[in-house]
Amino acid sequence: LRAEALQELQQVDNPQQLNDLRVKYLGKKGALTEILRGMGGLSAEERPIIGQVGNDVRAAIETVIDEKQNAFLAAETENRLRAETIDVTLPGKALPTGAVHPLNKVAQEIEDVFVGLGYSIAEGPEVETDYFNFEALNLPKNHPARDMQDSFYITEDILMRTHTSPVQVRTMQQMNGKPIKVICPGKVYRRDDDDATHSFQFNQIEGLVVGPNIRMSDLKGTLLQFVQQMYGEQAQIRLRPSFFPFTEPSAEVDVTCVQCGGHGCRMCKQTGWLEILGCGMVHPRVLEMGGYDPAEVSGFAFGMGVERIALLKYGIDDIRHFYTNDQRFLSQFARM
Ligand code: PHE
Repeated sequence: LRAEALQELQQVDNPQQLNDLRVKYLGKKGALTEILRGMGGLSAEERPIIGQVGNDVRAAIETVIDEKQNAFLAAETENRLRAETIDVTLPGKALPTGAVHPLNKVAQEIEDVFVGLGYSIAEGPEVETDYFNFEALNLPKNHPARDMQDSFYITEDILMRTHTSPVQVRTMQQMNGKPIKVICPGKVYRRDDDDATHSFQFNQIEGLVVGPNIRMSDLKGTLLQFVQQMYGEQAQIRLRPSFFPFTEPSAEVDVTCVQCGGHGCRMCKQTGWLEILGCGMVHPRVLEMGGYDPAEVSGFAFGMGVERIALLKYGIDDIRHFYTNDQRFLSQFARM
């Protein structure tokens, strides 16, 4: 029986066969079990001898079964590991990722420059009162300059803010006479027909500095610093006299054309200059309405359009690209 069992076990090549043989020899109705069960009919002398032989045979069969069993387990583990092997040298699959929108990116860059110059960031509501949007900025009712900015009115006294300048007044009222150095980014609204250079909604960044002895030269130096960080060391600015009811004197600021470096091209209409923002010394009446004494302090303010800064920075010819969310346009800024 032993020889037969061992012979059969040698030929086993899968776990199922192994189990069948275990049952055949060692199971409840197995051959060996049968023999050991028949020992009751043996004499007292024969019993221990046959019992001993039976146990030896059982042990031998079990040993071989265990060996086989372990071999099968090892082979199975081996196979699984081989199937799970990963080739770490294969190039990965590129996953489509989002990117910061170019307008947010440019706004962040502008903010970074001014934060680097010691400015804090202030915010105000997009739905604004006539008082903050116009009145406190030295634009009384029926002032002709109100037409400069066609407004979306909600009620007679409430409108969508047409610029970020109302945040100037809100900040002054909050700061209660203390020196101010803030920028105010945000959305603004004007009743324009949308085209390549106009949008009913766009983004501005306002700047306001108030304190003792703030001068026009401080404004000019600040703007030069900003422009050179934004467009490169070679960038220059020029100030042209202008008019805003809330600044006196007022100026419009041009930067040397980023396309041709000031030599003249289509982008700057051969002038070498591109207009980027409006600015000036805070009007004494505006300081007063903000709770500051024009005899004690002075200030400068500026306001720029984020879209315009971005158009110039990237040489984009149509502002509508910023709003239509075409992946082909937006994805170009993911790597910049
Ligand atoms: N608020 C002005 C505009 O929207 C810009 C400006 C801001 C001008 C601050 C002067 C000072 O056109």
